[in-house]
Amino acid sequence: MPKTLNEFPRLGLAHLPTPLVEMHRLREALRAQDGRDVPRLFIKRDDCTGLATGGNKTRKLEYLLGEALAQGCNTVVTTGALQSNHARQTAAAAAAAGLSCILVLFDSVPYAGRAYRKSGNLLLDRILGAEVRVEPADADAGHVFGELFKEIESNGGKSYFVPVGGSSPTGSLGYARAYLELADQAQALDFRKTVLVHASSSGGTQAGLVAGAQLRGSGPAVAGINVYRQDTAAMAEGIHALACKTAALLDASTPPAGSIDLDGDYLGEGYGLPTPGMREAVELVARTEGVLLDPVYTGKGMAGLIGQIMSGKYAEMEAAIFLHTGGMPGLFAYEEEFAPR
Ligand SMILES: Cc1ncc(COP(=O)(O)O)c(C=O)c1O
Repeated sequence: MPKTLNEFPRLGLAHLPTPLVEMHRLREALRAQDGRDVPRLFIKRDDCTGLATGGNKTRKLEYLLGEALAQGCNTVVTTGALQSNHARQTAAAAAAAGLSCILVLFDSVPYAGRAYRKSGNLLLDRILGAEVRVEPADADAGHVFGELFKEIESNGGKSYFVPVGGSSPTGSLGYARAYLELADQAQALDFRKTVLVHASSSGGTQAGLVAGAQLRGSGPAVAGINVYRQDTAAMAEGIHALACKTAALLDASTPPAGSIDLDGDYLGEGYGLPTPGMREAVELVARTEGVLLDPVYTGKGMAGLIGQIMSGKYAEMEAAIFLHTGGMPGLFAYEEEFAPR
Protein backbone atom coordinates (compact mmCIF):
# COMPACT_ATOMS: atom_id res chain seq x y z
CA MET A 1 0.00 0.00 0.00
CA PRO A 2 1.74 3.27 -1.07
CA LYS A 3 2.20 5.91 1.60
CA THR A 4 3.03 9.61 1.61
CA LEU A 5 6.48 10.82 2.65
CA ASN A 6 5.13 11.74 6.09
CA GLU A 7 3.76 8.28 6.80
CA PHE A 8 7.06 6.34 6.77
CA PRO A 9 8.84 6.12 10.13
CA ARG A 10 11.36 8.98 10.19
CA LEU A 11 13.85 10.10 12.79
CA GLY A 12 14.40 13.89 12.74
CA LEU A 13 18.18 14.26 12.36
CA ALA A 14 18.77 16.97 9.77
CA HIS A 15 18.64 20.75 9.97
CA LEU A 16 16.10 21.49 7.25
CA PRO A 17 15.47 23.15 4.90
CA THR A 18 19.08 23.56 3.83
CA PRO A 19 19.87 26.96 2.28
CA LEU A 20 19.88 27.64 -1.46
CA VAL A 21 22.56 30.26 -2.05
CA GLU A 22 23.59 32.14 -5.20
CA MET A 23 27.27 31.81 -6.27
CA HIS A 24 27.90 35.23 -7.85
CA ARG A 25 31.67 35.14 -7.63
CA LEU A 26 32.03 31.65 -9.10
CA ARG A 27 29.85 32.75 -12.03
CA GLU A 28 32.04 35.82 -12.59
CA ALA A 29 35.20 33.69 -12.44
CA LEU A 30 33.84 31.25 -15.03
CA ARG A 31 32.75 34.09 -17.30
CA ALA A 32 36.19 35.67 -17.05
CA GLN A 33 37.90 32.34 -17.87
CA ASP A 34 35.98 31.71 -21.04
CA GLY A 35 34.12 34.83 -22.13
CA ARG A 36 31.07 32.58 -22.41
CA ASP A 37 27.67 33.39 -20.95
CA VAL A 38 27.12 31.39 -17.77
CA PRO A 39 23.66 30.78 -16.26
CA ARG A 40 22.99 32.00 -12.74
CA LEU A 41 24.64 29.54 -10.35
CA PHE A 42 23.24 28.37 -7.03
CA ILE A 43 24.37 25.90 -4.40
CA LYS A 44 21.98 23.80 -2.33
CA ARG A 45 23.81 23.37 0.96
CA ASP A 46 23.19 19.75 1.93
CA ASP A 47 26.66 19.86 3.44
CA CYS A 48 24.83 21.82 6.15
CA THR A 49 22.42 19.07 7.19
CA GLY A 50 24.06 19.38 10.59
CA LEU A 51 25.01 15.87 11.65
CA ALA A 52 28.77 15.56 12.42
CA THR A 53 29.80 17.89 9.57
CA GLY A 54 26.69 17.15 7.49
CA GLY A 55 26.17 15.68 4.05
CA ASN A 56 23.59 13.92 1.93
CA LYS A 57 23.41 10.69 3.92
CA THR A 58 21.68 12.43 6.82
CA ARG A 59 18.46 12.75 4.82
CA LYS A 60 18.56 9.04 3.94
CA LEU A 61 19.37 8.07 7.51
CA GLU A 62 16.27 9.86 8.78
CA TYR A 63 14.19 7.19 7.04
CA LEU A 64 16.62 4.30 7.52
CA LEU A 65 17.03 4.75 11.25
CA GLY A 66 13.32 5.50 11.55
CA GLU A 67 12.78 2.02 10.12
CA ALA A 68 15.48 0.49 12.37
CA LEU A 69 13.80 1.88 15.48
CA ALA A 70 10.36 0.81 14.27
CA GLN A 71 11.74 -2.74 13.89
CA GLY A 72 13.20 -2.70 17.42
CA CYS A 73 16.82 -3.01 16.24
CA ASN A 74 19.65 -1.94 18.52
CA THR A 75 22.74 -2.31 16.30
CA VAL A 76 23.26 -0.54 12.98
CA VAL A 77 25.68 -2.15 10.55
CA THR A 78 26.90 -0.49 7.40
CA THR A 79 29.78 -0.60 4.98
CA GLY A 80 31.82 1.45 2.52
CA ALA A 81 35.36 2.46 1.69
CA LEU A 82 37.78 3.62 4.40
CA GLN A 83 36.91 7.27 3.87
CA SER A 84 33.17 6.72 3.54
CA ASN A 85 31.15 9.82 4.41
CA HIS A 86 28.14 7.56 4.60
CA ALA A 87 29.80 5.49 7.34
CA ARG A 88 30.66 8.62 9.34
CA GLN A 89 27.11 9.97 9.13
CA THR A 90 25.71 6.56 10.04
CA ALA A 91 27.98 6.49 13.11
CA ALA A 92 26.71 9.94 14.10
CA ALA A 93 23.05 9.08 13.45
CA ALA A 94 23.35 5.87 15.47
CA ALA A 95 24.93 7.82 18.35
CA ALA A 96 22.11 10.37 18.24
CA ALA A 97 19.53 7.57 18.23
CA GLY A 98 21.19 5.66 21.09
CA LEU A 99 22.03 2.66 18.89
CA SER A 100 25.29 0.73 18.58
CA CYS A 101 27.09 1.04 15.26
CA ILE A 102 29.49 -1.34 13.51
CA LEU A 103 31.23 -0.13 10.37
CA VAL A 104 32.75 -2.71 8.03
CA LEU A 105 35.13 -0.69 5.88
CA PHE A 106 36.88 -2.21 2.86
CA ASP A 107 40.38 -1.00 2.04
CA SER A 108 39.40 -0.87 -1.62
CA VAL A 109 40.72 2.47 -2.90
CA PRO A 110 44.32 2.25 -4.16
CA TYR A 111 45.22 5.70 -2.84
CA ALA A 112 48.54 5.90 -1.01
CA GLY A 113 48.22 9.29 0.72
CA ARG A 114 49.83 9.42 4.17
CA ALA A 115 46.65 10.38 6.04
CA TYR A 116 44.20 8.23 4.05
CA ARG A 117 44.21 5.26 6.42
CA LYS A 118 43.98 7.21 9.68
CA SER A 119 42.51 10.71 9.33
CA GLY A 120 39.41 12.30 7.78
CA ASN A 121 36.22 10.30 8.16
CA LEU A 122 38.01 7.37 9.77
CA LEU A 123 39.10 9.54 12.69
CA LEU A 124 35.56 10.87 13.10
CA ASP A 125 34.04 7.35 12.98
CA ARG A 126 36.11 6.42 16.02
CA ILE A 127 35.34 9.65 17.90
CA LEU A 128 31.63 9.02 17.24
CA GLY A 129 31.92 5.69 19.05
CA ALA A 130 31.45 3.32 16.12
CA GLU A 131 33.22 -0.01 16.13
CA VAL A 132 35.36 0.08 12.98
CA ARG A 133 36.35 -3.21 11.33
CA VAL A 134 38.71 -2.85 8.39
CA GLU A 135 38.68 -5.60 5.74
CA PRO A 136 41.04 -6.06 2.78
CA ALA A 137 39.69 -5.14 -0.65
CA ASP A 138 39.33 -8.80 -1.68
CA ALA A 139 37.58 -10.02 1.50
CA ASP A 140 34.52 -12.21 0.91
CA ALA A 141 31.77 -9.74 1.88
CA GLY A 142 29.08 -12.44 2.12
CA HIS A 143 31.16 -14.35 4.65
CA VAL A 144 32.17 -11.23 6.62
CA PHE A 145 28.56 -10.07 7.03
CA GLY A 146 27.21 -13.57 7.66
CA GLU A 147 29.64 -13.99 10.59
CA LEU A 148 28.96 -10.50 11.88
CA PHE A 149 25.17 -10.93 11.95
CA LYS A 150 25.59 -14.27 13.80
CA GLU A 151 27.90 -12.58 16.31
CA ILE A 152 25.43 -9.73 16.97
CA GLU A 153 22.57 -12.19 17.40
CA SER A 154 24.53 -14.46 19.74
CA ASN A 155 25.26 -11.39 21.91
CA GLY A 156 21.52 -10.76 22.16
CA GLY A 157 21.51 -7.89 19.66
CA LYS A 158 19.20 -7.18 16.74
CA SER A 159 20.93 -5.75 13.70
CA TYR A 160 19.71 -3.32 11.07
CA PHE A 161 21.78 -3.40 7.88
CA VAL A 162 22.16 -0.18 5.90
CA PRO A 163 23.40 -0.92 2.35
CA VAL A 164 26.35 0.96 0.80
CA GLY A 165 25.56 4.65 0.68
CA GLY A 166 22.16 4.10 2.30
CA SER A 167 20.89 3.49 -1.23
CA SER A 168 17.76 1.42 -0.74
CA PRO A 169 14.23 2.56 -1.63
CA THR A 170 13.74 3.52 2.05
CA GLY A 171 16.94 5.60 2.08
CA SER A 172 16.06 7.26 -1.22
CA LEU A 173 12.85 8.60 0.31
CA GLY A 174 15.11 11.21 1.94
CA TYR A 175 16.00 12.59 -1.48
CA ALA A 176 12.45 12.43 -2.81
CA ARG A 177 11.67 14.70 0.14
CA ALA A 178 14.72 16.87 -0.64
CA TYR A 179 13.49 17.33 -4.22
CA LEU A 180 10.20 18.75 -2.98
CA GLU A 181 12.09 21.11 -0.66
CA LEU A 182 14.33 22.31 -3.48
CA ALA A 183 11.49 22.63 -6.01
CA ASP A 184 9.68 24.93 -3.56
CA GLN A 185 12.82 27.05 -3.19
CA ALA A 186 13.26 27.25 -6.99
CA GLN A 187 9.60 28.17 -7.40
CA ALA A 188 9.93 30.96 -4.83
CA LEU A 189 12.69 32.40 -7.07
CA ASP A 190 10.31 32.15 -10.04
CA PHE A 191 12.55 29.76 -11.94
CA ARG A 192 10.91 27.74 -14.67
CA LYS A 193 13.92 26.12 -16.32
CA THR A 194 16.64 24.94 -13.97
CA VAL A 195 18.90 21.95 -13.54
CA LEU A 196 20.17 20.34 -10.34
CA VAL A 197 23.65 18.84 -10.79
CA HIS A 198 25.24 16.52 -8.22
CA ALA A 199 27.83 13.80 -7.68
CA SER A 200 26.33 10.32 -8.05
CA SER A 201 27.82 7.17 -6.57
CA SER A 202 25.73 4.43 -4.97
CA GLY A 203 22.79 6.16 -6.69
CA GLY A 204 20.27 6.67 -3.89
CA THR A 205 20.53 10.45 -4.03
CA GLN A 206 19.82 10.60 -7.75
CA ALA A 207 17.14 7.88 -7.57
CA GLY A 208 15.37 9.75 -4.76
CA LEU A 209 15.57 13.07 -6.60
CA VAL A 210 14.14 11.47 -9.75
CA ALA A 211 11.34 9.85 -7.74
CA GLY A 212 10.65 13.23 -6.11
CA ALA A 213 10.47 14.85 -9.55
CA GLN A 214 7.92 12.22 -10.61
CA LEU A 215 5.91 12.92 -7.47
CA ARG A 216 5.90 16.68 -7.95
CA GLY A 217 5.50 16.69 -11.73
CA SER A 218 7.49 19.92 -12.24
CA GLY A 219 10.75 21.46 -11.03
CA PRO A 220 14.48 21.30 -11.77
CA ALA A 221 15.87 18.64 -14.13
CA VAL A 222 18.20 16.20 -12.33
CA ALA A 223 21.71 15.54 -13.68
CA GLY A 224 24.24 13.23 -12.02
CA ILE A 225 27.99 13.24 -12.42
CA ASN A 226 29.33 9.69 -12.12
CA VAL A 227 32.13 9.54 -9.53
CA TYR A 228 31.89 5.79 -8.98
CA ARG A 229 31.91 3.26 -11.82
CA GLN A 230 33.60 3.00 -15.19
CA ASP A 231 30.42 1.59 -16.73
CA THR A 232 28.15 4.64 -16.74
CA ALA A 233 25.35 2.98 -18.72
CA ALA A 234 25.07 0.11 -16.22
CA MET A 235 25.16 2.54 -13.33
CA ALA A 236 22.35 4.62 -14.90
CA GLU A 237 20.26 1.45 -15.26
CA GLY A 238 20.77 0.67 -11.57
CA ILE A 239 19.73 4.20 -10.62
CA HIS A 240 16.65 3.92 -12.81
CA ALA A 241 15.64 0.65 -11.13
CA LEU A 242 16.05 2.21 -7.69
CA ALA A 243 14.13 5.33 -8.76
CA CYS A 244 11.27 3.10 -9.97
CA LYS A 245 11.13 1.27 -6.63
CA THR A 246 11.24 4.55 -4.69
CA ALA A 247 8.51 6.08 -6.87
CA ALA A 248 6.39 2.96 -6.34
CA LEU A 249 6.64 3.35 -2.55
CA LEU A 250 5.11 6.80 -2.97
CA ASP A 251 2.62 5.88 -5.69
CA ALA A 252 4.36 8.35 -8.03
CA SER A 253 4.49 7.70 -11.80
CA THR A 254 7.35 5.51 -13.04
CA PRO A 255 10.34 7.43 -14.44
CA PRO A 256 10.68 6.63 -18.16
CA ALA A 257 13.34 4.09 -19.17
CA GLY A 258 16.51 5.79 -20.40
CA SER A 259 15.68 9.05 -18.60
CA ILE A 260 18.56 9.04 -16.10
CA ASP A 261 21.03 11.82 -16.97
CA LEU A 262 24.45 10.57 -15.81
CA ASP A 263 27.73 11.95 -17.14
CA GLY A 264 30.73 9.61 -16.99
CA ASP A 265 33.37 12.10 -18.19
CA TYR A 266 34.64 13.28 -14.80
CA LEU A 267 35.45 10.05 -12.94
CA GLY A 268 39.08 9.83 -14.06
CA GLU A 269 40.91 6.63 -13.16
CA GLY A 270 38.33 5.52 -10.66
CA TYR A 271 36.41 6.00 -7.43
CA GLY A 272 38.39 7.93 -4.83
CA LEU A 273 41.28 8.67 -7.20
CA PRO A 274 42.00 12.39 -7.62
CA THR A 275 41.77 14.20 -10.96
CA PRO A 276 43.24 17.59 -11.97
CA GLY A 277 39.69 18.87 -12.61
CA MET A 278 38.68 17.92 -9.06
CA ARG A 279 41.64 19.83 -7.57
CA GLU A 280 40.88 22.91 -9.68
CA ALA A 281 37.18 22.83 -8.78
CA VAL A 282 37.85 22.42 -5.04
CA GLU A 283 40.26 25.37 -5.04
CA LEU A 284 38.13 27.57 -7.29
CA VAL A 285 34.96 27.17 -5.21
CA ALA A 286 36.90 27.61 -1.96
CA ARG A 287 38.54 30.80 -3.25
CA THR A 288 35.50 32.38 -4.88
CA GLU A 289 32.73 31.34 -2.50
CA GLY A 290 34.44 30.26 0.73
CA VAL A 291 32.77 26.85 0.36
CA LEU A 292 34.68 23.61 0.92
CA LEU A 293 33.98 20.74 -1.46
CA ASP A 294 35.58 17.28 -1.15
CA PRO A 295 38.07 15.23 -3.19
CA VAL A 296 35.96 12.10 -3.87
CA TYR A 297 32.46 13.37 -4.70
CA THR A 298 31.67 17.07 -4.81
CA GLY A 299 35.03 18.12 -6.27
CA LYS A 300 34.45 15.83 -9.26
CA GLY A 301 30.77 16.80 -9.31
CA MET A 302 31.66 20.48 -9.52
CA ALA A 303 34.30 19.76 -12.18
CA GLY A 304 31.42 18.14 -14.08
CA LEU A 305 29.10 21.10 -13.66
CA ILE A 306 31.83 23.51 -14.83
CA GLY A 307 32.70 21.29 -17.80
CA GLN A 308 29.04 20.99 -18.78
CA ILE A 309 28.53 24.76 -18.55
CA MET A 310 31.62 25.36 -20.68
CA SER A 311 30.34 22.90 -23.28
CA GLY A 312 27.11 24.93 -23.55
CA LYS A 313 24.91 22.16 -22.12
CA TYR A 314 22.98 24.61 -19.91
CA ALA A 315 22.79 27.60 -22.27
CA GLU A 316 18.97 27.46 -22.15
CA MET A 317 18.74 27.27 -18.36
CA GLU A 318 17.79 30.22 -16.14
CA ALA A 319 19.94 28.74 -13.40
CA ALA A 320 22.13 25.75 -12.64
CA ILE A 321 22.00 24.50 -9.05
CA PHE A 322 24.82 22.44 -7.57
CA LEU A 323 23.76 20.06 -4.82
CA HIS A 324 26.55 20.15 -2.25
CA THR A 325 26.33 16.64 -0.83
CA GLY A 326 29.05 17.15 1.81
CA GLY A 327 32.25 15.15 2.30
CA MET A 328 34.53 17.90 3.63
CA PRO A 329 36.35 15.60 6.13
CA GLY A 330 37.79 13.76 3.12
CA LEU A 331 40.01 16.80 2.43
CA PHE A 332 42.14 15.83 5.43
CA ALA A 333 42.66 12.31 4.06
CA TYR A 334 43.87 13.73 0.73
CA GLU A 335 46.08 16.50 2.12
CA GLU A 336 48.87 16.00 -0.47
CA GLU A 337 46.51 16.92 -3.29
CA PHE A 338 46.25 20.46 -1.96
CA ALA A 339 49.88 21.02 -1.00
CA PRO A 340 51.35 24.31 -2.27
CA ARG A 341 52.44 23.88 -5.89
C1 LIG B 1 29.83 13.67 -0.20
C2 LIG B 1 29.04 12.72 -1.03
N1 LIG B 1 28.48 13.17 -2.16
C3 LIG B 1 27.77 12.37 -2.97
C4 LIG B 1 27.59 11.04 -2.67
C5 LIG B 1 26.82 10.20 -3.62
O1 LIG B 1 25.56 9.88 -3.14
P1 LIG B 1 24.91 8.49 -3.59
O2 LIG B 1 25.75 7.41 -3.00
O3 LIG B 1 23.55 8.56 -3.03
O4 LIG B 1 24.95 8.44 -5.06
C6 LIG B 1 28.16 10.51 -1.50
C7 LIG B 1 28.04 9.08 -1.18
O5 LIG B 1 28.70 8.54 -0.35
C8 LIG B 1 28.90 11.37 -0.66
O6 LIG B 1 29.48 10.94 0.47
